Amino acid sequence: MTARSCGGAWDFSLSLGEPALTIEKQANFVPVGALDKRRASKRELLRGLVRQAPFVAKNFGLYFRNGWRRQVLHTKLVAPYAVTFYVTHRCNLDCSYCTQKEPDVFSDELDTAGTLQVLKRIRRESDSIVITGGEPTLRADIEQIVTAARFGYKFRSVLLITNGTLLDRKLGILNGVTGLVVSLDALQAHPTNPLSKPAAVTKVLENLELAKGRLGSPPKITISTVIEEWNVTEVERLLDWCGEQGFVFAAQSAQMEKMPNLALLKSAKYQALVDKIIERRREGKQAINGTPKTIETLLRFRDFQCYPTMFPRVYPNGDVFYPCEPLRKIAGNLLRDGSLVKIFAAGKKKYGDIPPCQGICYLFGNVLSHYYVNDFWGLAGDFIR
Ligand SMILES: C[S@@+](CC[C@H](N)C(=O)[O-])C[C@H]1O[C@@H](n2cnc3c(N)ncnc32)[C@H](O)[C@@H]1O
Ligand code: SF4
Repeated sequence: MTARSCGGAWDFSLSLGEPALTIEKQANFVPVGALDKRRASKRELLRGLVRQAPFVAKNFGLYFRNGWRRQVLHTKLVAPYAVTFYVTHRCNLDCSYCTQKEPDVFSDELDTAGTLQVLKRIRRESDSIVITGGEPTLRADIEQIVTAARFGYKFRSVLLITNGTLLDRKLGILNGVTGLVVSLDALQAHPTNPLSKPAAVTKVLENLELAKGRLGSPPKITISTVIEEWNVTEVERLLDWCGEQGFVFAAQSAQMEKMPNLALLKSAKYQALVDKIIERRREGKQAINGTPKTIETLLRFRDFQCYPTMFPRVYPNGDVFYPCEPLRKIAGNLLRDGSLVKIFAAGKKKYGDIPPCQGICYLFGNVLSHYYVNDFWGLAGDFIR
């Protein structure tokens, strides 16, 4: 399973037993099970189980812990799955939709030693890290950070999200990551705004060739695209191109102030694009991030319940948000307070349990958290399939 959000969450291999229970009965949860009727066969499930064995224990552990927290403790504060670490706010581009370049809550970068300390603390509570920013490749020490994450602290999954423009100057990254997420909003160069992603396409495509050669396996590279009204046709081209190149395709719509652009739903072109993405995913002809249900929820803005502590967000100085980054409340600092558990407990005391803000931030990690907690077996079956 792979996943992403605005600096979100990726590569959650999920492999489980039989999808005996499909808990799609939450009142405020639109059942989209009808989308995907075929259940994985036992053989398919078993094959998936063996293939992704290292992640099985983690997923079972989290499933039971989350069940305990939801059913017995009656809290939405679930355990972390993967941690997103924003190592900088600096960026060499200026995307119109970006919330990260000039965040409302700004934090200074730590030096290398401090940053590695934060990584070490994160590792105590999670084996999966997503390194993002700003543009992480702008950090002079990014290769050192990635290498330490993978080989020093032994994160099992090390993903780096980048706009791809500077990869050729930081090739050491490719020795450390288990997966690379490169953001691309169009295949066609578009020089009108020289600081937008489409203006940098030529360079990014060159760098993708380099990365493909070094990583040796195209599925380790995900192309992440942000859909706006202007680029629907380009996203469709990107989908086809990812299939040809062997890259994983991922898409979400641009969030403005936590809200998606609902006008997209009125566009026949957009609806056709979503249908095409879901169909391709269902057919299994190319690698696409998510499952038919998560894609439908994410791109058609269906209801979902968010469990943000599943994907904690850590800012460059070690600050941790509670319950989530879009609500802009810092509950503690990893260097000062030591652990996510402590910080979240303090956050809960100060700000209360996770609020019921259902389905406003249509980011992949948020949607995924819903299915992970509320429809674990269905999700597992869909991923294995
Ligand atoms: C904040 S960027 C940081 C990493 C890197 N600079 C990049 O652009 O890939 C992480 C991801 O969030 C996406 N993103 C940024 N702002 C967004 C928004 N308002 N809505 C949806 N996705 C967004 C970007 O396209 C990118 O894929
Ligand atoms: S490249 Fe990434 S961090 Fe930079 S402005 Fe665009 S989305 Fe934001």
